[in-house]
Amino acid sequence: MLNDIETVLVSEEEIDNITDRIATQINEDYKNTNKKLVLICILKGSLMFTCELMKKIHLPVELDFMKVSSYGSGYMSSGQINIHLDLRREDLSDADFIIIEDIVDSGNTLSRLTSYLRARGANSVKTCTLLDKPSRREVDFVPDYCGMQIPDKFVVGFGLDYDEKYRNLPFVGVLKPEIYTK
Ligand code: PRP
Repeated sequence: MLNDIETVLVSEEEIDNITDRIATQINEDYKNTNKKLVLICILKGSLMFTCELMKKIHLPVELDFMKVSSYGSGYMSSGQINIHLDLRREDLSDADFIIIEDIVDSGNTLSRLTSYLRARGANSVKTCTLLDKPSRREVDFVPDYCGMQIPDKFVVGFGLDYDEKYRNLPFVGVLKPEIYTK
């Protein structure tokens, strides 16, 4: 697996520093809330980031999972999102949600999911991503918490996959082009 990696883009130490920074900010931002704080891990890519981050959040949190997909704006009209696994909650008004993602690319997934949860009555919705590729944006979207902005490279590891592989790498690396062009 390591032979398929061109360079390490975000090392384990950098990921540790990123999760420290974001968790500290979340601990501060939500210390006075009187609602439940719910982390939503978006499957599958954000599993490892969610685990590392939540260990460093010292407030009471609940954990939920969603699996979603969204298509480019040319394929489906804006605001639509496919929900493969939804929250098992009826009333969202008693909770502050933080959606946790591994990467923001076009921005469609998080902007649509945020709208969906707000439309369902969530008290508040914020977004948190390990990686952001602003150069790929198709919609006007800025995550509330961002680990690192990265260039438009094919990245894998720490949850991110190519053809379902490499998710278990403990760092984020750039995949050698010959792996995905062959
Ligand atoms: C990735 C990522 C986000 C989405 C971001 O998921 O985890 O959910 O794409 O892209 P966008 O900003 O263009 O909407 P993916 O569909 O690869 O699923 P996975 O996490 O299960 O690998």
